[in-house]
Amino acid sequence: MKNIYLAPLEGVTDSIYRNTFEKYYGGVAKYFTPFISPNSTFKFTTREFKEINPEKNNIETTVPQLLTNKAEHFLWAAAEIASLGFKEINFNLGCPSGTVVAKKKGSGLLYYPEDLDNMLYEIFDGLDKACRLVDAKAPAISIKTRLGKADPEEFYEVLDIYNKYPISELTIHPRVQTDFYREPIRPEFFEYAYEHAKAPLIFNGDLVTCDDIENTLRKYESIDAVMIGRGLIANPELALEYEKGLEHKALDPRLFKDFHNELLCEYTEILSGEKPVLHRMKEFWGFWQNSFPDSEKAIKKIKKSNRICDYKDNVNILISSAISAN
Ligand SMILES: Cc1cc2nc3c(=O)[nH]c(=O)nc-3n(C[C@H](O)[C@H](O)[C@H](O)COP(=O)(O)O)c2cc1C
Repeated sequence: MKNIYLAPLEGVTDSIYRNTFEKYYGGVAKYFTPFISPNSTFKFTTREFKEINPEKNNIETTVPQLLTNKAEHFLWAAAEIASLGFKEINFNLGCPSGTVVAKKKGSGLLYYPEDLDNMLYEIFDGLDKACRLVDAKAPAISIKTRLGKADPEEFYEVLDIYNKYPISELTIHPRVQTDFYREPIRPEFFEYAYEHAKAPLIFNGDLVTCDDIENTLRKYESIDAVMIGRGLIANPELALEYEKGLEHKALDPRLFKDFHNELLCEYTEILSGEKPVLHRMKEFWGFWQNSFPDSEKAIKKIKKSNRICDYKDNVNILISSAISAN
């Protein structure tokens, strides 16, 4: 049995989501946090600290992710996070957002191979020392990457650079920055990495069914895990279906109801005002709607709800009809 990792999605897979998902579903070996951006303040924001607070996150299965282009900032944050007990830190070299890329961060750094190489050199060279200073054991450093910025052929040089360092796992999302999440993935470049990468590889991108997972793991026999984002959020039963070899059925509406209600309750407790809670829940529906086919009208009503009481009524209508159809 190979592993499923939950991909990080900024604004979606925060610690509340991850903990609630693990409580009701699970089947996930590692949960990656959305990126944390260490900077010259050398402080985590309150929001960032929630993602790495050991009281709110399982230090064995949570992998904090860092987004920066300065080794000094990376090393500070990695050492602090290691001192909290986390065993692995992930370096984001994939984010395609325009503002991030303009700052030469995320997939933007891939366009500057020399800077990338220097930064990785400084990180791997300085990690032990940075951790010793805070009495922490050096964590494993994994990377999540795209192929390049504009041209997938940038990847050849990028991979040569990665091959110089002891990266614990290399997750490849086989798209370039300008592909964002829409353009077709480019599996031939994952195949190139499969032949040439030194680090253990993880495949990420567009896996939405058990067949997708199984075909990928069959095709790339030696990889130990796949990372899934949108497909696993849309169908929270996906990892369990894979683990237990179950056939895909409609979501269990009763279980989903409990999961949904707990998320709603948690967000109502920490967010102030109805709007932010509704905004957050509607984000999820952008994914969950894929698990409720033929329910466009009901979903539209949910997304149009302006008050939590209406929202709850509309969700109940959808779930009750799923229960009676089940
Ligand atoms: C809304 C959104 C937010 C994301 N935030 C992050 C992030 O913080 N860090 C990261 O490495 N990837 C981020 N990603 C990329 C996902 O982790 C993943 O690589 C991408 O969705 C492709 O995998 P999938 O097809 O399984 O969803 C984000 C993607 C989306 C759609």
